[in-house]
Amino acid sequence: MSAEKKEIDWGSLGFGYIQTEKRYVSNYKEGAWDGGCLTEDANVVLNECAGVLQYAQTIFEGLKAYTTEDGHIVAFRPDLNAERMEASARRLEMPVFPRERFVDAVTSVVRANAAYVPPYGSGATLYLRPYMFGSDSVIGVKPSQEYQFRIFCTPVGPYFKGGAKPLTLCVSDFDRAAPHGTGSIKAGLNYAMSLHAIVGAHKAGFDENMYLDPGTRTRVEETGGANFLFVTKDGGVVTPKSDSILPSITRRSLLHVAKEYLGLEVSEREVYLDELGDFAECGLCGTAAVISPVGKIVDHGREICLSSGMAEMGPVTKKLYDTLTGIQMGRIQAPEGWIHVIE
Ligand code: PLP
Ligand code: COI
Repeated sequence: MSAEKKEIDWGSLGFGYIQTEKRYVSNYKEGAWDGGCLTEDANVVLNECAGVLQYAQTIFEGLKAYTTEDGHIVAFRPDLNAERMEASARRLEMPVFPRERFVDAVTSVVRANAAYVPPYGSGATLYLRPYMFGSDSVIGVKPSQEYQFRIFCTPVGPYFKGGAKPLTLCVSDFDRAAPHGTGSIKAGLNYAMSLHAIVGAHKAGFDENMYLDPGTRTRVEETGGANFLFVTKDGGVVTPKSDSILPSITRRSLLHVAKEYLGLEVSEREVYLDELGDFAECGLCGTAAVISPVGKIVDHGREICLSSGMAEMGPVTKKLYDTLTGIQMGRIQAPEGWIHVIE
């Protein structure tokens, strides 16, 4: 059934880009998307004045395809990525790429690159990156008239080096998003905003930044690429509620898993910097991060140590991790509609 696999040392992959054979491309011109196709050309050639180059009119998504225990290739909830990309497009005055076509394009990219889908049990997955950008020239500040939608894929290992080793975060002095800004969509500009902060955090020896709410800087928002989950000392799961964070599909899935599969109390509410010391566990959740445990958060020299410590993932985080990855890899029955079977 599956194509012969590429000779890749799957177990030692990090989160990097490996060029695969095929990617999907569709162009929007004169108010309509063309039929789209797969191409072997990994390069994009643009006019010097393209909207994406001048005014950062670009949005993206991230999702993964997995080989299941019984040898199928599946994608996890691609319909939710299509839905979120629609919200991102509307916010940046871009055309919507139709949801059914988005899911079909994901399917065709994974099928065409089946040789790059890491085998079951290898610890690696196939990361898909749908994206869309303004492709025609704009010199006055206004939306482009023409757009390109593409999806490429790359096999990846863990986002953070060291896999499940607890991370140390620092409370950032920079904001990732503005009040009433674009924090809740997946726009390239949000990530450009975070580059200076992440380079600084890495130089200072931290793994990631914890961003606070830009309005009052008293509440926890998210990191540069993941939402937070906290576990209370009595085993409940808490996640920050905010209008300026990305609505993570992993986080929404984990809340369901916590409640329906593990019978835990879950709450989505404002989480204050002042209360972090009261939590037992903390994790970063996202497609790339899956759930990466946090052991310590440093707020201007003040160390907040999670009681789960720096040696391993806390017990509730581990249960959430095992259940979610079990669902994704076909070891545990998934809720209706979560698993999109590709082959
Ligand atoms: N927050 C940010 C800023 C992200 O970039 C991501 C990654 O997509 C997430 C959260 C997690 O979202 P998801 O679980 O949908 O991948
Ligand atoms: C993802 O988890 O898909 C992300 O987009 C996070 C990061 C790689 C930007």
